[in-house]
Amino acid sequence: VTNRNGVKGLSEMGLKTLPKQYIQPVEERITVSNILPQESIPIIDMSNWDEQKVSESICDAAEKWGFFQIINHGVPLEVLENVQDATHRFFNLPAEEKRKFSKENSPSNSVRFGTSFSPEAEKALEWKDYLSMFYVSEDEASALWPSACKDQVLEYMRRSEPVIQRLLEALMKRINVKEIDETKESLLMGSKRINLNYYPICPNPELTVGIGRHSDVSTLTILLQDDTGGLYVRGNNDSWVHVPPISGSLVINVGDALQIMSNGRYKSIEHRVVANGSKNRISVPIFVNPRPDDMIGPFPEVLAGGEKALYKQVLYSNYVRHFYKKAHDGKKTIEFAK
Ligand code: SIN
Ligand code: FE2
Repeated sequence: VTNRNGVKGLSEMGLKTLPKQYIQPVEERITVSNILPQESIPIIDMSNWDEQKVSESICDAAEKWGFFQIINHGVPLEVLENVQDATHRFFNLPAEEKRKFSKENSPSNSVRFGTSFSPEAEKALEWKDYLSMFYVSEDEASALWPSACKDQVLEYMRRSEPVIQRLLEALMKRINVKEIDETKESLLMGSKRINLNYYPICPNPELTVGIGRHSDVSTLTILLQDDTGGLYVRGNNDSWVHVPPISGSLVINVGDALQIMSNGRYKSIEHRVVANGSKNRISVPIFVNPRPDDMIGPFPEVLAGGEKALYKQVLYSNYVRHFYKKAHDGKKTIEFAK
């Protein structure tokens, strides 16, 4: 089976059975028996974000779950809808238009259209196509990003900036970082990456995954998902907890970099996405990251009370390279910082 148009191309050929490269080992598939329907991640109303109790629920959720949803966050619904439309517009382009942004053809390393996650390293492929864009500046983005989506994506990034600031301020306060100075700003949000993910209808969804188990390498991830559902988060007792779509909400999760900086206080939790047999799904995560040339490690403020450092200092670009050179493998990347 050729794959010139990603898995979307395969899906639209009307395959009756899943090509065998996509068949995941049994232990990587999600089965109903390990889903706990009674558990759910917190939903936090940000309308009065400056109130103490809002900050507290944010920090509590980041410590206990590493995942939560926010509503009334201030990013207009229209901005969210526009970025979802733009995502469909990009993936609906003819194959040759999208391939202009593939690894071989892309005008820049910072824009990449691809399929699965790390195909060279994977024993089984993942049922997903993506467009990934590293954000350096508006000017660079305007010059290099696909015109099918760039204006709407940039507007979404602009409008989500205050939300990111508020979340990080609240999270820092609890760990005694009273002010986000220039150094901390770089470490917490010095660079960004935005992905447009497309999970097409899959002929045998129970045999594969949309995304395999992983934790993010970000400080924070802001995720917009459509109304399809299918994102699962690791809960207690080896269960998987569904993150139900809520119109207008954003899903927030702690990434490895923040787990490291907080010396394990905030949790970067494993998550995965199932494949779907009847509906195409899109999602749009913004990964808020340190700068590639930052050294990351537990913040001095966290260790001031005599706490032992659980992680060593690592160059962030090395950490990220380590993540991308292997297949998704749960929480293993963080061992690199031990
Ligand atoms: C991701 O984990 O990178 C994407 C999650 C999603 O599509 O919901
Ligand atoms: Fe993720």
